[in-house]
Amino acid sequence: MPVGRRPPPSIDRGDLMGRLARVLPAAEIALALPVLERIAELKAVRGAVVVAHNYQVPLITAGTADFVGDSLAMARFAAACDAPVIVVCGVHFMAETVKLLCPGKSVLSPNPLAGCSLAASVTAADVRALRARNPGAPVIAYVNTSAAVKAESDICCTSANAAAVAVSLRTSRVIMVPDRHLAGFVARQTGLDVVSHAGECEVHVKYTGADVDAYRDEVGAVVLAHPECPADVQDRADFVGSTGAMAEYLGVHRPRRVLLLTECSMADNVAVLHPEIEFLKPCNLCSHMKSITLDGVMRVLEEPGNRIEIDPSLADRARRPIERMLAL
Ligand code: 13P
Ligand code: SF4
Repeated sequence: MPVGRRPPPSIDRGDLMGRLARVLPAAEIALALPVLERIAELKAVRGAVVVAHNYQVPLITAGTADFVGDSLAMARFAAACDAPVIVVCGVHFMAETVKLLCPGKSVLSPNPLAGCSLAASVTAADVRALRARNPGAPVIAYVNTSAAVKAESDICCTSANAAAVAVSLRTSRVIMVPDRHLAGFVARQTGLDVVSHAGECEVHVKYTGADVDAYRDEVGAVVLAHPECPADVQDRADFVGSTGAMAEYLGVHRPRRVLLLTECSMADNVAVLHPEIEFLKPCNLCSHMKSITLDGVMRVLEEPGNRIEIDPSLADRARRPIERMLAL
C-alpha cells in the first residue's frame, strides 16, 4: 500500500491509555496518540519493526516498540528478525550492531548522532596498544563500542553476559574495553585478571556509595545497580545486573520500594508493567538515549533515511566477535 493511504488505526487506544496512565499525564498521552497511530500505519506499509532499548521513554517502549530489551536481547532479536526494515530506538552502537547482524536489511536510526560516552572513549588504536602491552590476552569488547573497535577484538560482551564471556575464554588474563567499572565487576565475579581501559559511562558514574547509604538509612529500599556504576555502589547494592536482568529481578521479587541505580526511563518502563512497585528517585538521564523521540521514529518511517551503512570489509571483521558472543 502506498504511503499516505490510511488503513484503520491498529493501536488499541483504551489499552494504551490505561497502561501509560501509570507513568504519564493523560494530556501527554492524548497528544501522542495521532503520532502513534501514524507510526503503526507506516510500520505496516514499510514492513518495519521497531526495536527499543530499556532506556527509551514509555511512549516508545509501550506505545510503538515491537521488542524492548537490553543490549544482548536487542542483538538476539535482530539476529532472528525477518522484517525487511528495522528501526532501532537506541544509541548509535546499538543500531550498528543490528546492521552488522542484518547486513541485507534496512536498519534505520531516528537519530544516527545519538552517541555513548563509553563507545567514544576507546579507539581501534587503543585496542592494538593494549594487545601489544599484554601479549596473548584475548580482547573482550563491550558491545558499547564502534564497529572499528569490535573489528580489533576477539569477542563481544554485554552487561548481561560479561562474566560468562570472560570465563568462556579459558584463560587467566583478559583485556576488557572500554568500561573500567564493568571490568572490575567481571574481575570480582570471576577471579580473573582483567586488564581494563579507562572508559566510564557518564550516566552511571554519577552514582556514589554515599548516595546508596543515605537512601538506605532513610527509606530501607531494595537497591539495584547496573555494573557500569562505580565499585562502591555495586558493593552496596542488593543486586547488580544488566537492564534486562534488573527488570527480571523486579518481576520475580516485586519489592515494595526500589532504588534503581540506572537511567531514569528504566523505572518508568518497569512501572508500566508493575504499578505496585514504588521507585525512589533520583535517577540520571542519558541525553544520548533521550535524543531519540517519537517524532523522530515517525519521520524516519515517513521518509526512510538515516540508514546505517558499514563498510563491508570492516563489517565482516566486526561481525565475528558479536556472532562468537551470540553462539555461547
Ligand atoms: P544494557 O545492556 O544493560 O541494557 O546496558 C546498555 C547501556 O548502555 C547501559 O548504560
Ligand atoms: Fe552510553 Fe551510558 Fe548512555 Fe548507556 S547510559 S548509552 S553507557 S552514555
